[in-house]
Amino acid sequence: MATLGQIIFWSVINITIILAGAIVLIIGFGISGKHSITVTTFTSAGNIGEDGILSCTFEPDIKFNDIVIQWLKEGIMGLVHEFKAGRDDLSHQHEMFRGRTSVFADQVIVGNASLRLKNVQLTDAGTYQCYIITSKGKGNANLEYKTGAFSMPEINVDYNDSSESLRCEAPRWFPQPTVAWASQVDHGANFSEVSNTSFELNSENVTMKVVSVLYNVTINNTYSCMIENNIAKATGDIKVTDSEIKRRSQLQLLNSKASMGVSFFFAVCWTLLPISTYLMLK
Ligand SMILES: *[C@@H]1O[C@H](CO)[C@@H](O)[C@H](O)[C@H]1NC(C)=O
Ligand SMILES: *[C@@H]1O[C@H](CO)[C@@H](O)[C@H](O)[C@H]1NC(C)=O
Ligand SMILES: *[C@@H]1O[C@H](CO)[C@@H](O)[C@H](O)[C@H]1NC(C)=O
Ligand SMILES: *[C@@H]1O[C@H](CO)[C@@H](O)[C@H](O)[C@H]1NC(C)=O
Ligand SMILES: *[C@@H]1O[C@H](CO)[C@@H](O)[C@H](O)[C@H]1NC(C)=O
Ligand SMILES: *[C@@H]1O[C@H](CO)[C@@H](O)[C@H](O)[C@H]1NC(C)=O
Ligand SMILES: *[C@@H]1O[C@H](CO)[C@@H](O)[C@H](O)[C@H]1NC(C)=O
Repeated sequence: MATLGQIIFWSVINITIILAGAIVLIIGFGISGKHSITVTTFTSAGNIGEDGILSCTFEPDIKFNDIVIQWLKEGIMGLVHEFKAGRDDLSHQHEMFRGRTSVFADQVIVGNASLRLKNVQLTDAGTYQCYIITSKGKGNANLEYKTGAFSMPEINVDYNDSSESLRCEAPRWFPQPTVAWASQVDHGANFSEVSNTSFELNSENVTMKVVSVLYNVTINNTYSCMIENNIAKATGDIKVTDSEIKRRSQLQLLNSKASMGVSFFFAVCWTLLPISTYLMLK
């Protein structure tokens, strides 16, 4: 049997612990005060030397001045970009991104937090975080940004060569791509024995010009030159007939997948609160 003194002692201890827990929770709410919101990013690729977009969307909020957008990069101290109270705040921006970033300010109200990055460099590749605070809550999502070089191929008839040949050229690729030829008539044929591909380093010593020559081609056939690396895939088609030359080309980025992030921590707080109230009443 516990004495009255022991019961009072343990009750006081219990109440102290419960109150302390409740205070921690209340402080937690004071800091967060909010739910989490959904933020979605899309894996994207940047073409060296050109402008790129890191795509991010969030649940829109009509309280425009409460919206804070922060872009961060793994391994980089400071921010890539910050937008708050309706304008850019670049006071904490890392120098690597100085003068190169912007958000689409008129699109923020509809939940577009995408970042425009000027003059993309190879070193811009990495993991970025899109972090959003609105009057409804906060959330973040990561984005894998790949950088390289990719460009459309152009195919021409190579009149200089002794046999009938086609010459496929694309000015900028990095990393070094694979090049393959195909034809509509000889479906599934392997042209590696009758073609010759070379890569010439461009003047900035990173990207390369791709040149591939296909020998012994026949008229009235459609040939395709396919260039591919881990970032992009490009195809050029050519058909030479007696009267005309038809061309077509297309470029496609690989692995554009979306990633979504919702932080569950504050959802846990909401379920803990009724429990702690229950414990306090007990
Ligand atoms: C955000 O807005 C820009 C500019 O209008 C647009 O290019 C981009 O595609 C938009 N991004 C998303 C994810 O909607
Ligand atoms: C043919 O040779 C000339 C002179 O060497 C060159 O300027 C031209 O680009 C070549 N054409 C093709 C299709 O290779
Ligand atoms: C084509 O043949 C070469 C060897 O002649 C081989 O290395 C290559 O893998 C083949 N390509 C395809 C797509 O079968
Ligand atoms: C092109 O065809 C001719 C005659 O059929 C042959 O002698 C030559 O080796 C071929 N060229 C290539 C690169 O295969
Ligand atoms: C392929 O092209 C390179 C450079 O244009 C040339 O040096 C080489 O001899 C060619 N090889 C064949 C098999 O045609
Ligand atoms: C590219 O490399 C060559 C030889 O290695 C060098 O002379 C040249 O300065 C380099 N160019 C740039 C832009 O780095
Ligand atoms: C190519 O096709 C056209 C029309 O379809 C035909 O008149 C011509 O004879 C063909 N040429 C060859 C070399 O097959």
